[in-house]
Amino acid sequence: MEKVKIKIKRFDGKVEKIETYEIPYDERTTIIEALMYIQSEIDPTIGFRVQCRAAICGTCGLLVNQEYKLGCRTKIVDIVKDKEIFLEPMKNLKVIKDLVVDHSEFLQKLKNVKAWFVPKEPFEKVFPEDLKKFEKETDCILCGLCYSICPVFETDEPFGGPINYVKTYRFWKDKNDALGDERIVLARENHITSCVHCKYCSMTCPKEIPVEQDIFQIEFYGKQKGIIEKEENQFDFGDFGSF
Ligand code: SF4
Ligand code: SF4
Ligand code: FES
Repeated sequence: MEKVKIKIKRFDGKVEKIETYEIPYDERTTIIEALMYIQSEIDPTIGFRVQCRAAICGTCGLLVNQEYKLGCRTKIVDIVKDKEIFLEPMKNLKVIKDLVVDHSEFLQKLKNVKAWFVPKEPFEKVFPEDLKKFEKETDCILCGLCYSICPVFETDEPFGGPINYVKTYRFWKDKNDALGDERIVLARENHITSCVHCKYCSMTCPKEIPVEQDIFQIEFYGKQKGIIEKEENQFDFGDFGSF
């Protein structure tokens, strides 16, 4: 069996250090399996997150050779460089221990934008074409990779983050959601216009959700409806109805 050196950026609450572990792997071994091997065979003190191991729960995000990945769906063979792999915790989030970060900050921000379905009365019949409008956004697993890669927090800490606006978009596009344009007001209050449209969030999302495009659409609609202030010289497309 081939061997790989796994370097891990560790943190015990006070001190940061890099530790290296050599482990065997084959063409199917994932990063999470490598970490489980280290924990059971070499060093039981290593801290990391894992639950479903099937890219569903969103708990295992981390940096692998400086790329944002889900550990459970990233194979060593696909990312190994010079027989080494470097693992770091996600950025923009407080590190609790080793690769374990605190998700509570972005979960709190999801509450700020009411990231849940608010049923409208009476409930309208739903057809396949209605679901298509937000089908992709329902795939979000709350992994936070988009939140972690976003550069805006360096200059605007209260920015809601891309994960928020994916949720805004998903419920705003649902004809049975009662909040309607109030969701655009909430997005504005949570600084949606601080997005610099770098597209890092879209490129990082493991579910291929067009995060930046969703943000663009919310902003564009908000500006046309007068909910979000327009920048100077912005072209007015008039009322474009059910965008
Ligand atoms: S497109 Fe906007 S939300 Fe996405 S990473 Fe860039 S600045 Fe952040
Ligand atoms: S939008 Fe994508 S990257 Fe962001 S939390 Fe959802 S699944 Fe993860
Ligand atoms: S362990 Fe659930 S997404 Fe990776």
